[in-house]
Amino acid sequence: MDIEKIGLIGCGAMGSALAKGIVKKVGVDPAQVYLYDLNRERVEELSLELNANGAESLEEVISQCRQIFIAVKPQDIESLLYSIKDYVQQGQIFASIAAGITINFIESCLPSFSKVIRLMPNTPCLLGEGTIAISAGDNVTAEERDDIEELLKSMGITIRIPEYLMDAATGLSGTGPAYVFLFIETMIDAGVAVGFRRDVASEMVIQNVIGSARMLQENSKKHPAELRNSVTSPAGTTTAAMHVLEESGFRSCLLKSVIAATNQAEKLRRG
Ligand SMILES: NC(=O)c1ccc[n+]([C@@H]2O[C@H](COP(=O)([O-])OP(=O)(O)OC[C@H]3O[C@@H](n4cnc5c(N)ncnc54)[C@H](OP(=O)(O)O)[C@@H]3O)[C@@H](O)[C@H]2O)c1
Repeated sequence: MDIEKIGLIGCGAMGSALAKGIVKKVGVDPAQVYLYDLNRERVEELSLELNANGAESLEEVISQCRQIFIAVKPQDIESLLYSIKDYVQQGQIFASIAAGITINFIESCLPSFSKVIRLMPNTPCLLGEGTIAISAGDNVTAEERDDIEELLKSMGITIRIPEYLMDAATGLSGTGPAYVFLFIETMIDAGVAVGFRRDVASEMVIQNVIGSARMLQENSKKHPAELRNSVTSPAGTTTAAMHVLEESGFRSCLLKSVIAATNQAEKLRRG
């Protein structure tokens, strides 16, 4: 095993975004990156694009690499872990993005010394603008966790959380883009309803969301209500709009949605 080498098992949507980020954004030498997927075409395509190593077998990845990302679907992880457990070496770190698969479960499938990190990314990670919740198992040192976080910066921001909050991270952040997409979709329809062409309404709404989010990001000490109040003049248009939103239960609807998604994540995990 070479401490510099990084393995990636599962080169689908998330796995390939991670591999591209690690090589193109973080600047890891592609010769140190080993890619593996059951789908050989995916490995060949990605390794060619990145100039990285396309591994022929799981054994090749596990024997070479110290940091190993697992990006297969949750239903495929158990058989994967059983097929690698005999090759696992002291000091290797396994970082899994499989939704709902606990650190405890992964540790129970691997030798007792195994170091496991659990991640919950969301789809904006595909553009390097995602949010990745991260929890580390007891065998992982702070330095090892920091090293993994450094590689993940290519996909967005990382937020350390205790593992019991992973279902909540799924409900708030993993599901998060869907709330925003629905909001945008509805606002575009509203734009059409008040007279804009759909493409014009779409451009306006998307930029509005990006701009408003950036205002909050750049005024991180300000509560969102402060920025909202600053565009609310007495007896003005915003007041009229807010009144309708409050009357229709906008806040309570969003709160309930996030709680429902969190509960569903817990149910799926237990199931
Ligand atoms: N996409 C998201 O928004 C999102 C968000 C949060 C978390 N995640 C998590 O990210 C993980 C990957 O999701 P994805 O959307 O990238 O999935 P994906 O596109 O289906 O990619 C998974 C890849 O892993 C391959 N694979 C399956 N078993 C394997 C094995 N034993 N060894 C090597 N490769 C294997 C699959 O090959 P085959 O197609 O041939 O089976 C496929 O190419 C999932 O666990 C998901 O829960 C995804």
